[in-house]
Amino acid sequence: MADGYSFVVVANRLPVDRTTDEHGEAQWTRSPGGLVSALEPIVRASGGAWVGWTGAPDDDTGPAAVDGIQLQPVPLSSEDIDRYYEGQSNSTIWPLFHDLVEPPVHKREWRQAYEAVNRRFAEATAAVAAEGAAVWVHDYQLLLVPAMLRALRPDLRIGFFLHIPFPPVELFMQLPRRAELLRGLLGADLVGFQRPLAAQNFLQLTARILGLSPQEDSVVYEDRTVVARAFPISIDVAEIDRIAASPGAQREADRLRAELGGDRRLLLGVDRLDYTKGIEQRVEAFGELLAEEAVSNDEVVLVQVATPSRMRVAQYQQLRERVEREVGRINGEHGAVGKVPVHYLFQSRSREELVALYLATDVMLVTPLRDGMNLVAKEFVAARRDELGAMVLSEFTGAAAELDDAFLVNPHDVEDLKRAMVAALDASPDDRTARMRRMRAHVQAHDVDHWAREFLDALGVPVHT
Ligand code: ADP
Ligand code: G6P
Repeated sequence: MADGYSFVVVANRLPVDRTTDEHGEAQWTRSPGGLVSALEPIVRASGGAWVGWTGAPDDDTGPAAVDGIQLQPVPLSSEDIDRYYEGQSNSTIWPLFHDLVEPPVHKREWRQAYEAVNRRFAEATAAVAAEGAAVWVHDYQLLLVPAMLRALRPDLRIGFFLHIPFPPVELFMQLPRRAELLRGLLGADLVGFQRPLAAQNFLQLTARILGLSPQEDSVVYEDRTVVARAFPISIDVAEIDRIAASPGAQREADRLRAELGGDRRLLLGVDRLDYTKGIEQRVEAFGELLAEEAVSNDEVVLVQVATPSRMRVAQYQQLRERVEREVGRINGEHGAVGKVPVHYLFQSRSREELVALYLATDVMLVTPLRDGMNLVAKEFVAARRDELGAMVLSEFTGAAAELDDAFLVNPHDVEDLKRAMVAALDASPDDRTARMRRMRAHVQAHDVDHWAREFLDALGVPVHT
């Protein structure tokens, strides 16, 4: 085709959701999650298009430009949302790729819907990509898109990036129609993962399931070479730094600290409310520290901000109930009038508010049971221009491979969580500063722009960001 976009990003969600305000007016709000946080600045700078869903059922919104990004909505019906998004994507693939933190459910009609919706994404992309364009497909909701797109448009350069962990070989083998999923990914020229082991697992599976002969970081498939490598994702460091440097952020941080009780030390968790994030275990460990009088309600306070996520999926509703019950129990047992140990906010907050919270924090708690990367950990580090603040970080995050100056922890072990929380609270200011300085140097040298450049370079496309 003569016109069209020379750079197209394809992800299940657009960077903004279509919502309706209290007056019935349609508006766009930022979509949740790390994928959008990372990609939004890249696409805005490159002038590319973004193919994705608006987050609302049966939404027939046409193409629109929002905040400098060309949106190309792909509509999903209520049944698509039920089967493709909440079903196959978030009740089968998500738990299986996160090491079975919850048991995956397998249903034939979900797989069929997943295939049909992936085809629609491929068709929508084929319709807007210019001749020879670079197309970058994202995440586990769209594993089949690369091959479908290549069949429609062999002229394109196709990259794929998986934001979540890729499972060990034996776990992937449990998936029905596993060969189709692998062939789907092999439609790309370059398949990117968060960690080198994930790329190795993928290549090994092409041998085991498809009988291919992978080399070091590539495999030949249908006379093409497909490269599989790690590209650890990051954040827009400059944006977080700009917010953190603003007088408003510092004022808000001071206000928060005063409101939470002056000299109490603040522990903070910021996550989507997801069972992979280890929120329950974190709250439980904090409760035990209070019960054992290792810390007291006068000395410490925990703020847990949890964004509502996938709330129609039963496992997420159950998690919400369990967390809220535990928070209520701890506050009931250890709180006083006007002073509770756990502040739990089941809300999404603006970037400015999150940065103010990061700045007010003594100990950041990032304790997922499994996480592809975890951008909150990098945001916290990027915000701490004062080189203060300690972080407890799960070994089972991609971020731990880069930020090993955090207090690393096994989040499945409540005793270890307690040990790490106390160690972080007790660390000397010099120790905290030395750790933070090293972590900041790493994050500053590896921001999201660096990530995108590395990926697009490896894909062999000119970089406009
Ligand atoms: P995931 O992609 O699994 O949600 P990440 O930690 O990689 O996890 O990314 C989460 C992103 O969502 C970060 O950019 C973080 O700032 C943002 N976020 C997390 N919790 C909230 C919240 N309560 N309100 C607003 N943004 C949030
Ligand atoms: C993670 C996933 C993304 C997803 C985000 C939010 O970051 O890797 O693909 O968009 O969570 O989840 P949601 O289901 O609301 O899109």
